[in-house]
Amino acid sequence: MFQKLGRSLTKRRLKLSLPPVAREVMRDGLTYLPLERMASLNSELERVVAEDVSGDIAEFGMALGGSAIVLAKRRGGRRFLGFDVFGQIPPPTDDDGTDAHNRFKVIADGKSTGIQDGEYYGYMDDLYGRVVSSFEKYGLRVDNQSIILRKGLFQDTFAPSESDRFCLVHIDCDWYDPVLFCLTSVSRCLNPDGVVIVDDYNDYEGCRNAVDKVLAEDASLRLERTLPHAVIRKLRS
Ligand SMILES: C[S@@+](CC[C@H](N)C(=O)[O-])C[C@H]1O[C@@H](n2cnc3c(N)ncnc32)[C@H](O)[C@@H]1O
Repeated sequence: MFQKLGRSLTKRRLKLSLPPVAREVMRDGLTYLPLERMASLNSELERVVAEDVSGDIAEFGMALGGSAIVLAKRRGGRRFLGFDVFGQIPPPTDDDGTDAHNRFKVIADGKSTGIQDGEYYGYMDDLYGRVVSSFEKYGLRVDNQSIILRKGLFQDTFAPSESDRFCLVHIDCDWYDPVLFCLTSVSRCLNPDGVVIVDDYNDYEGCRNAVDKVLAEDASLRLERTLPHAVIRKLRS
């Protein structure tokens, strides 16, 4: 009984620590992030803003846009870039485990339910338009200057130039290939003390393998923690 009470107090404290926008996207059913991950994402965001780490903020994997809205709303004068296919999630590959293949089968068979038992985002018409409307509802205009949304496969829409720099990147795209691509690409343009948060590290074997592979090959990255998601920091050289 005391344990249960302790857990519910911790949850309450976490919830109260969130900025209103984070509580609202959760209430509105716009995000898959559970409370612990939303709080952790928010605290990493607050850290890079407080420490004035320079560079843009990006998210790979937006779905209905909930976590992206929190990042964009609190970006502190930086640009926000969001990437997504804005349709049904591309399939996993042989580098993914049965966990990913089983989940994808449910989606492909048209049997996935959405957040709060609503419609699954991958079955919606004009998901891009819905996300833009949700941004507007939260007072964020997608002007493609300071808030930029790129529709398509990450591999086709993200080709950073020398001048592109990031301070915080949220990678929330489930399977091995996209996680490997995004983490490899962004780690080259992450500023020192910048951070990459990988949402699915504890959820999908393929995601975890992709992260572990990049970490083993890149000594400039340090895995700070793995709960409630993977938090990877770019070291100063
Ligand atoms: C788990 S959802 C993102 C959840 C979201 N961050 C939230 O707050 O609920 C994963 C998203 O990644 C997208 N995605 C996965 N692989 C992709 C790829 N290779 N290119 C573009 N989008 C991809 C999916 O279509 C989906 O919208």
